[in-house]
Amino acid sequence: MINIAKPQIGIEEKQAVLEVLNSGMIAQGPRVKAFEEAFAEMCGVKHAIATTSGTTALHTAMLALGIGAGDEVITTPFTFIASANSILYTGARPVFVDIDPKTFNINPDLIEAAITPRTVAIMPVHLFGLMCDMEAIMDIAAKHDLQVLEDACQSHGAACNGKRAGSFGVGTFSFYPTKNMTSAEGGMITTNDANIDERCRVIRQHGMRRRYYHDELGFNFRMTDVHAAIGLEQLNKLSGYNRSRQQNARYLSENLKGVTVPYMYDDYEHVYHQYTVLVPDGHRDTLRQYLRENGVGSEIYYPVPVHKQSFYVQELGYDIALPEIERTVQEVLSLPVHPALNQEDLETIVIRVNEFMAL
Ligand SMILES: Cc1ncc(COP(=O)(O)O)c(C=O)c1O
Repeated sequence: MINIAKPQIGIEEKQAVLEVLNSGMIAQGPRVKAFEEAFAEMCGVKHAIATTSGTTALHTAMLALGIGAGDEVITTPFTFIASANSILYTGARPVFVDIDPKTFNINPDLIEAAITPRTVAIMPVHLFGLMCDMEAIMDIAAKHDLQVLEDACQSHGAACNGKRAGSFGVGTFSFYPTKNMTSAEGGMITTNDANIDERCRVIRQHGMRRRYYHDELGFNFRMTDVHAAIGLEQLNKLSGYNRSRQQNARYLSENLKGVTVPYMYDDYEHVYHQYTVLVPDGHRDTLRQYLRENGVGSEIYYPVPVHKQSFYVQELGYDIALPEIERTVQEVLSLPVHPALNQEDLETIVIRVNEFMAL
């Protein structure tokens, strides 16, 4: 079976973990600090703060930005549920905007109409490894004095006009094993703002500035040195991994027939966390079944957008229609693109998709 994802753990990660285990310092320590510094450098920002997951990175960043009850945050519901849930954790409300179906990302042209006196922030989600139109989003944010929190959990190393994901607003990343790089579980916040950096560190550590003196409600969102040791080794390999993903994507896009391949802007670096095609005419589920029977894994990201999830509809009362998203979720299919694929795997994927679409 050609799997949809395959984490790459090499001898370097294993040795690095052993070194931490043998050092006697296994909780948050020097490896976390080194990982934060190296990640900040990769993103081109001044500060990075490691957390336990992408979800806790989002939650911490929201709180550090001062977002809370009564506030509204504009975002896309075509994402993993954690993006929107992190807004709910603070007591604020997600306001959902439709996507540009070409890119799968929030459509900046629809953002201004969603702004109300309660709006405090925009949360663009760089879905599948392609950044949102950040120039348009930053202009809107500046015009309306809004904060920008990038959910870059799927976009490590992606760039737009040479500027990396996580360097426009406050950035958040996930290191879940299927991501472009992993620390097993883990997350990171990126920022150029020293105050946000300080706020995140306090929130991550039980609201503690001075040992055992607690000025506010915080959490234990600390990453361990064991996880950071894996993350550091993976960060060293990230540009190679992303290059493989890009080469695999290029081969697929040049050879697949009968499906709409992922969109690319000229000046954007797409890092293909997922390689997601659109399958027309109601054939998506039968193609998926055919691929499964023929040894090719695939996945539907995401079958139900957040505004249609039962919790959001029944408990929170969301009752909105977002036509581009609702059409897109019927047609999306993500195919394997990860760095462990070989040429034979890529050819198999192309042959199987093309033979089905030609039927
Ligand atoms: C877009 C997006 N946001 C947030 C998250 C949450 O990250 P984590 O699973 O590390 O909590 C993920 C990861 O699955 C994601 O894909």
